[in-house]
Amino acid sequence: MEPRPFLKWVGGKRQLVETLLDHVPGLGKHTYHEPFVGGGALFFALRPAKAVLSDDNARLVRTYVGVRDHVDAVVKLLRSYPHDPAFFQKMRERDIDSADDAHVAAWMIYLNKTGYNGLYRVNSRNVFNVPFGRYANPTICDEPNLRACSAALQGVEILRDDFTSVLERAHKGDFVYFDPPYVPLSATSYFTGYTADGFGPERQVHLRDVALKLKGKGVHVLLSNSSAGFVREIYSQGFELEEVHAARNVNCRGDGRGRILELVMW
Ligand SMILES: C[S@@+](CC[C@H](N)C(=O)[O-])C[C@H]1O[C@@H](n2cnc3c(N)ncnc32)[C@H](O)[C@@H]1O
Repeated sequence: MEPRPFLKWVGGKRQLVETLLDHVPGLGKHTYHEPFVGGGALFFALRPAKAVLSDDNARLVRTYVGVRDHVDAVVKLLRSYPHDPAFFQKMRERDIDSADDAHVAAWMIYLNKTGYNGLYRVNSRNVFNVPFGRYANPTICDEPNLRACSAALQGVEILRDDFTSVLERAHKGDFVYFDPPYVPLSATSYFTGYTADGFGPERQVHLRDVALKLKGKGVHVLLSNSSAGFVREIYSQGFELEEVHAARNVNCRGDGRGRILELVMW
């Protein structure tokens, strides 16, 4: 069975995958890097022989490790978790960081399948605070897909790291796909310092510079972002740019449904 992302993640790229695949070079013995892995849609579509997946969300990274190394335990735990608001509430409040990777993975997958819109959001104490979702009968444990994902992850390096660390890892001939938190289409506060995820305009420019350095080393890069004017501006030199109409289905306010224009750069 072909693996599909086992989490739906904000910015999930499943709808954009066909376009992204057109831009992936033949990898041969080279390594695939995905430094903002999220749901990992392009990774699961490609299933490269050599890959490094990373993200700065420690629980997400531990979820991937749990699925890679302990899929039997993850499946067993998920099978034991009921679809029930009181149980969901208890799961939200668990001190999950002191648990092992299998428990972290089952916790993350359970909350992702049963929470509102598949969102991942935490408060200032890192406590998950998304409300119970309105699903009649969600598939909490998709065992065949979890096993297919686990198989795809065998031999893959999975790291918690800031995206900048890819500069040390990626070598000539490798391929890096960057799917950062997007520049908002309309949010003036973005440019005065407020960002919910700490990924403001300075970090976007830093990302552009990391991509340029990689290109200078002979690394193939591909980036996606929103169609905000700021994105067009910072990628106007040194990059090719393509507009893509993507379908969106996970958004913080639930108002991002429908087709929206995104940009792909390389
Ligand atoms: C738009 S999502 C990626 C979506 C993914 N490509 C998919 O198909 O689901 C962005 C990801 O970047 C991660 N992130 C945010 N800031 C980061 C940073 N400074 N370094 C690495 N990852 C970061 C978030 O935790 C999130 O998982």
